[in-house]
Amino acid sequence: MKDLFDKINANPGPLGQHAKESHGYFTFPKLEGEINNRMTFRGKEVLQWSLNNYLGLSNHPEIRKVDHKAAKKWGMGYPMGARMMSGNTPLHEKLEKELADFVMKQDSILLNFGYQGCMSAIDALVDRNDVIVYDGESHACIIDGVRLHQGKRYVYKHNDIENLKKQLERATKLATEQDGAILVITEGVFGMSGNQGKLKEIVELKKQYNFRLFVDDAHGIGTMGKTGAGTGEAQGVQDDIDIYFGTFAKSFASIGAFIAGDEDMVRYLRYNMRSQIFAKSLPMPLVVGARKRLKMIKTMPELKDQLWVIANALQKGLVKAGFNIGTTNTQVTPVVLEGGLGEATNLTLDLRENHGLFCSIVVYPVIPRGMIILRLIPTAMHTLEDVEYTIETFKKVHTKLLAGEYKSDEIAAV
Ligand SMILES: Cc1ncc(COP(=O)(O)O)c(C=O)c1O
Repeated sequence: MKDLFDKINANPGPLGQHAKESHGYFTFPKLEGEINNRMTFRGKEVLQWSLNNYLGLSNHPEIRKVDHKAAKKWGMGYPMGARMMSGNTPLHEKLEKELADFVMKQDSILLNFGYQGCMSAIDALVDRNDVIVYDGESHACIIDGVRLHQGKRYVYKHNDIENLKKQLERATKLATEQDGAILVITEGVFGMSGNQGKLKEIVELKKQYNFRLFVDDAHGIGTMGKTGAGTGEAQGVQDDIDIYFGTFAKSFASIGAFIAGDEDMVRYLRYNMRSQIFAKSLPMPLVVGARKRLKMIKTMPELKDQLWVIANALQKGLVKAGFNIGTTNTQVTPVVLEGGLGEATNLTLDLRENHGLFCSIVVYPVIPRGMIILRLIPTAMHTLEDVEYTIETFKKVHTKLLAGEYKSDEIAAV
């Protein structure tokens, strides 16, 4: 028999195994100062492309004013308790109605964290006789929701509609035998690749198969669609999304989330989602702040327009310079390079220390060995000069990467 702590010390996990060398630099870096395109990293100014503050709201003076006023008036404690018992307020309910209107649904339920809410909603919606069919590139909160499911689940290859059909055939057979139902889950915008979920094609399958569709639109809300109502709006199928999930952690630049849909479904979640029934409700300043953010998203389309000016310029410029940006068709911009872990860390070090450019790197085991992804998050706070500088810098480091200048068997010392 083992001691539990001996076990975890011997195997710190796929990401934890590099903690000693990377902590504070490649992992858990501290970006300091006002949230903006330029921030401070280890005492030096950097141009950052790492924050999902898509619309630049996090530091908008009007937002700061409202957040400040709400915190002063309510404090962070109010309301105390879970919504069902003692933590409900008229403003929580008002926000739910406003969010539902925004994403063109009958009602919505607030979640105090997106991750936990997404998991818990999946858990509440299905029982052991039901079958889940989900996209293979799904976010961890979907995967964890699926893990809670006590019945059968089938994963389909990322955005592969033929494969989804195959899994729906299997799911239909099983659900029919068990008198269960089918839940299909996808993201609206996949946060790593930047691919849109193929919502239109998935919705089309409803003619052939009986299922309900859950869309995690964490990266799509505020950024996609004519009014910012998300990926369903962009693809003209918002009405066919049965369970719409949006978070406040990205475009809204805050904390919290919501699920919207038909009144009956939302009522069911209110009375069955364990993460909300048994946890404290969103503090009032977050509710007041979310209402203000929503109002700005609705009335200031120029924020979304500016995000797209930057995203389009960045992506066009990178492609023109010969970079592989994968299959993104959203603002999320991966730059795919080849190299090992040593090269990835040396290149990142060069970018940060010598060029003042901060972006996130993704390496094995998150992606296949030998691949490096530099993930750029354009926002409304960036400028076209930032785009130009970044592309020129990328060209320089790419030349060095190809010339083998970053080669090393070890993670760069920081
Ligand atoms: C696709 C996706 N879903 C859900 C979440 C979780 O949302 P939250 O940060 O509100 O917990 C995230 C990350 O924030 C995400 O990227």
